[in-house]
Amino acid sequence: MAEINSVTTLTMDGDVAVITLNSPPVNALSANVRDGLYEGFKQAIASDAKAIVLICEGRTFIAGADITEFGGAQRGASLFDVQNMMENSSKPVIAAIHGTALGGGLEVALCAHYRVAVPSARLGLPEVNLGLLPGAGGTQRLPRIAGVEKALEMMTSGRHAPAKEALEMGLVDEIVPEGQLREGAVAFARKAVAENKPLVKVRENNTKLEAARGHPEIFANFRKANARRFRGFLAPEYNIRCVEAAVNSGAFEEGLAVERKLFGELITGPQSAAQRYYFFAERQAQKIPDVPDDTPARPVKSVGIIGAGTMGGGIAMNFANAGIPVTIVEVKQEALDRGLKVIRGNYDRTAARGGFTPQQVDERMGLINGSLDMNGLADKDLIIEAVFERMDIKKDVFTKLDAICKPGAILATNTSGLNIDEIASVTKRPQDVIGLHFFSPANVMKLLEIVRADHTAKDVIATSMKLAKQIGKIAVLVGVCPGFVGNRMLAQRQREAQKLVLEGAMPWDVDRVLYDFGFPMGPFAMSDLAGLDIGWVKEKSKGETIRDVLCEMDRRGQKTGAGYYDYDENRNAKPSPVTEKIINDFIVKSGRNPRKVSDDEILERCIYPMINEGAKILDEGKAIRSSDIDVVWVNGYGWPVYRGGPMFYGDQLGPDKVLAKMQDFQAKMGDDFKPAPLLEKLVADGKKFADFKRQ
Ligand code: CAA
Repeated sequence: MAEINSVTTLTMDGDVAVITLNSPPVNALSANVRDGLYEGFKQAIASDAKAIVLICEGRTFIAGADITEFGGAQRGASLFDVQNMMENSSKPVIAAIHGTALGGGLEVALCAHYRVAVPSARLGLPEVNLGLLPGAGGTQRLPRIAGVEKALEMMTSGRHAPAKEALEMGLVDEIVPEGQLREGAVAFARKAVAENKPLVKVRENNTKLEAARGHPEIFANFRKANARRFRGFLAPEYNIRCVEAAVNSGAFEEGLAVERKLFGELITGPQSAAQRYYFFAERQAQKIPDVPDDTPARPVKSVGIIGAGTMGGGIAMNFANAGIPVTIVEVKQEALDRGLKVIRGNYDRTAARGGFTPQQVDERMGLINGSLDMNGLADKDLIIEAVFERMDIKKDVFTKLDAICKPGAILATNTSGLNIDEIASVTKRPQDVIGLHFFSPANVMKLLEIVRADHTAKDVIATSMKLAKQIGKIAVLVGVCPGFVGNRMLAQRQREAQKLVLEGAMPWDVDRVLYDFGFPMGPFAMSDLAGLDIGWVKEKSKGETIRDVLCEMDRRGQKTGAGYYDYDENRNAKPSPVTEKIINDFIVKSGRNPRKVSDDEILERCIYPMINEGAKILDEGKAIRSSDIDVVWVNGYGWPVYRGGPMFYGDQLGPDKVLAKMQDFQAKMGDDFKPAPLLEKLVADGKKFADFKRQ
């Protein structure tokens, strides 16, 4: 065996040379890996070997470029040199794929003459999720092999295609049994030699491109069909342009030049910087300084949920989807039946769209069991309370749970902002109490705020973090404070949105500015969608707020055909003259003159106080790091990922600019804008939010 370098070896298996990469965790294409590949192929080609297999050790084939190297000076062999050497090898090169062949990893594999994979392998070009495009020929080779439509879909979604689908697309030539990748790839290599198989260069195959030439409607239709999904993002459009170039260029190199140019623009631009930051933010959020990765987790094989309402039902679906049996407890049969019917309806709708088979729906429903008896939760490993958001009701539930549940069971509350220490105080086991704050709709939204109370045990935190991953959530550990991280910051934005409207901005002005910033919708459109009457009590309403007046007029949002906006029969929103009059009457009544509020002011008034609140949250230790706050906002509140998150955005603007604006607003409008001490301190020290570490 020859050691090529610290991450690469070259061995002979009879007359087949095997180049093995071992660069944990994901064999990313660092300078060292590129050097190893370059030298390994050079030696293998010069050897007596008749064929060459490229394989990886560890959990995966090459998972892409090393993202940590982006932005630095190029060191070591270039990826293009490696690819050219592979493609031009006089001996068949076979890539042996397990785990994930992603981005640059797939681009390397596409320069092999053949690819074999195990059934569990997945292949994709996920660069779009980093605000990029595949910059090593992937945009030119994928459409050549998989066809234009498939390439567009894969590159703009970043989806990882399973091996079976990759085989159908021609991305993989043979699937070999699980656990026998090396033997399978070597056997394939021998067969290639014995049968004198051609040295296939994907770059030379133009058949599928020619089929698309002269059909610009393919691209126009694709753009149109996905306009909503791509809104605000640069990378999907740039990916499409590269495939267009592949189709319209005379030669591979011409398309490659377009790819190189557009890749250069993206990688130096702000969107990719934000999306790459976010990639690491999400992974960083899983690390809890005083709860090491090897903290033993408690087994969670059964779950109880109290409350079959919208939240309880949605939460139950998460566990059923992951194969964990759930018992939902309600007080009344009618409410239980209604809750179970809603769950079934949700599953049936997904099945009708092709998401599940009817059999999968039945399997999932089979894991959800309804009960009117809380005593049935005695043997459950985890119980999540999802009852009405009132402290007395929650305390009552926890008192009962404390009496019923087995020792060691985790008792969780889904409160969206109540004091969990107070809830835990009614039990004799506060160490087992934690907050699991799901976001509505709970079966869809990715975010899970895991709320650590004063006495929560470390293994309860470790178990919750692990479980979140198992049910497909992105967890962020936060501390107890009103509204936790997400809703606490949201309250700032909501307050300013309401104030802006009383100063002369119309709800649709505020919504438009936030929509253009990249949110899926503004706060008023959101209220109309959710229903203006949530928390509104008819008997107590005295027309004191705009919302009161709207509700009193039965303008309760989309469901009544009118709210802040007027809606047509297809629920398309139109600015409402009725709302405008109500607002103007309010302004007159308050003795003020409406003024023209600029779009800049709307944005700054809505966003800067959120950043300021984020600074307080950090300072109080309610979030571990500023990037955790960003993960909350991107996953739970639709903050556009191409702007990184509110704290990243604050850092990009410069904390000094945020502070100056807050001071300016404070002088004009009072202490809603009082700068957070941490913001002042960071500015005084010339630091950013990302630099903040609690002592
Ligand atoms: N570069 C550097 N580090 C990477 C990496 C990459 N491409 N991919 C993953 N890592 C790191 C993660 O940060 C993480 O590090 P820590 O343990 O220190 O947090 C570690 O590898 C494990 O990653 P995950 O926790 O994500 O592990 P997983 O098993 O859940 O997922 C994965 C594995 C599917 C490969 C996932 O990590 C992933 O999607 N990686 C990114 C893949 C990608 O985007 N590739 C394209 C890169 S851009 C490119 O290739 C451009 C080009 O055209 C040349």
